[in-house]
Amino acid sequence: MKHLLKLLDWSTEEITEVLNLADQLKYEKKNGIEHHILKGKTLGLIFQKSSTRTRVSFEVGMYDLGGSALFLSSNDLQIGRGEPIEDTARVLSRYLDGIMIRTYAQEEVEKLAEYGSIPIINGLTDFCHPCQVLADLMTIREHKGVIKGRKLCYIGDGNNMANSLIVGGIKMGMSVAIGCPKDYQPDAEIMKWAKENGDFLCTDDIYEAAKDADVLYTDVWASMGQEGEAEERKKIFKNYQINADLMAVAKEDAMVMHCLPAHRGEEITADVLEAHANEIFDEAENRLHAQKAVLVKCFEK
Ligand code: CP
Ligand code: NVA
Repeated sequence: MKHLLKLLDWSTEEITEVLNLADQLKYEKKNGIEHHILKGKTLGLIFQKSSTRTRVSFEVGMYDLGGSALFLSSNDLQIGRGEPIEDTARVLSRYLDGIMIRTYAQEEVEKLAEYGSIPIINGLTDFCHPCQVLADLMTIREHKGVIKGRKLCYIGDGNNMANSLIVGGIKMGMSVAIGCPKDYQPDAEIMKWAKENGDFLCTDDIYEAAKDADVLYTDVWASMGQEGEAEERKKIFKNYQINADLMAVAKEDAMVMHCLPAHRGEEITADVLEAHANEIFDEAENRLHAQKAVLVKCFEK
């Protein structure tokens, strides 16, 4: 049994194993080969925030693997009425074989793992989004052949995506550059770890960050839970955009990635998004394959 609470907990070897299995599962799905590795297993999906990709890819992923998934909106669970996560963890562990949770505080996910007795998978917190980054690494390898030695540049808010991309990128031997406003940098501990463990830069100069990048990545300026700051953030982040001018300083064959949902005209221009739709929607598709590999790994005895 294994958890996926954050990528920092996983070794480079474990990440590589998941990426290899994800490639295999993708190939086999496309060729009609079924694997009911999780026959009879049930995964609970707790959502305290909205989702399109995460919910659907986990539900379909469990179905593909012969198991079933149970959508549990926090509005309907007793969590929404104040039942402690410690109790929820112990109760749900008696019914389910695993839980995926999307919530606000990372501590909630860690507590679920501490008090529960089944694998816990983080489907996004304010701190990180590990499932997304596993799919991202898979997509980078698919499009670029190798991950190691490539330059990943992230432009925008130093949010959950930035934190996870730094960890995933550095663990897989990428050079990582973040272009963000001074007051919106990624987590300080993660940046310290990145500097000690690889080639890392954080700057408010987006052109410096994007120079010679192999991958340009961005995410929304206002994340879920920050809706009240959206207008203010539009002013602060207005120059933190992937557009044709920024593309000009990256490598000529640079790929563009976005975890989605995207706001055209904000963090990315419509023309850049459409020109790179192939990469961006491969990335979305790979959520399914990467998460199936994560499920197999986490449910392993
Ligand atoms: N990228 C991502 O996690 O999308 P959803 O919010 O739709 O799940
Ligand atoms: N940073 C975004 C990612 C959505 C997938 C959010 O947390 O809303």
